[in-house]
Amino acid sequence: MTTNSDIPDALLAALRDARHVCVLTGAGVSAESGVPTFREAQDGLWAKYRAEELATPEAFLADPVLIWRWYRWRREIVADAEPNAGHRAIAALAERVPKLTLITQNVDNLHQRAGSRDVIEFHGNIFEDRCFADGSLQAGDDSTAVPTCTECGSNLRPGVVWFGEAIPEQALHDSCTAAADCDVFLSVGTSSLVYPAAGLADLARQNDATVVEINPNPTQHAASFDFCLAGNSGVILPELVNSLSL
Ligand code: APR
Repeated sequence: MTTNSDIPDALLAALRDARHVCVLTGAGVSAESGVPTFREAQDGLWAKYRAEELATPEAFLADPVLIWRWYRWRREIVADAEPNAGHRAIAALAERVPKLTLITQNVDNLHQRAGSRDVIEFHGNIFEDRCFADGSLQAGDDSTAVPTCTECGSNLRPGVVWFGEAIPEQALHDSCTAAADCDVFLSVGTSSLVYPAAGLADLARQNDATVVEINPNPTQHAASFDFCLAGNSGVILPELVNSLSL
C-alpha cells in the first residue's frame, strides 16, 4: 500500500492502460460543495439526531412529518450547492479513458450537474418522490406537509434507499457488472461502512483490478487497497486527471 498525496507512477500507468475505469463515490465527494456527510454531527435543529436514526422506513412510519422535514432541509442544502473540482474531475476523466462507469451513493445530483453521464444512482435521488406503499414515482412538492399519492392516498417519501432497504435491482446489477469488469476501481469519499456498496471494491479486487482509495481519513479497509491517496477529493482527483497528461 502507498499512502501519499502525490500520484504514484504505477497508478498513472494503470490508468493510462485501463480499458474500463469504475468510480464509486460517497458523501465525501460532496463535502467540499458544503453538503454534510452522513456520519458527521448535524447542524442546527437537527444536531440532536443522527442521520442513521432518521434514514429508515421505521422512522418515517413513526413520524412522517419529522422525516419529511429533514429531507426538505437536506434538499435545500443540496439545491443550493454547486459541484466542486472533484465532481468535475470525474467528468473529465470519463473523456480521457475508453470507458468509465460512475456509481454514486450520493443522492444529490451533483455528479450529473458537473457533466457526468449515465450515473448509477446506488441509493436513489433525493429530488424524486415515491409512494410509500408501492414505490411508484410521483410528482411531489416541497411543502412542509407530507404530500400524498394521487393514486392511493399513501404518504409520499423521498426516493432514496434507506437503511435496511434493497438497492434498486438495475443499479445493483449494473454496478456489480462494472466492478467485475474494470481494470481500475476508485473508491472516493466513502467510509466503506455500508454494504453492498462497500463490497464493490472486493469484486473489483477479485477480478484483478487496481483498487484505489481516495479519502482524507483512510478507512478501515485502507490496507486492502493497492493505493491509498490521503486527501480531499477536490484536490486529489484534479491532480490525478492533470497528471495523466504529463
Ligand atoms: N474528500 C474525500 N473524502 C472525504 C472528504 C473530502 N473532502 N471529506 C470527508 N471525506 C470522507 C470521510 O473521511 C468519510 O470517510 O468521506 C467519507 C464520508 O463517509 P459517510 O458520511 O459514511 O458517507 P458514505 O460512505 O457515502 O455513506 C454511505 O450510508 O448513510 C448511508 O445512504 C447513506 O449513501 C450513504 C451511505
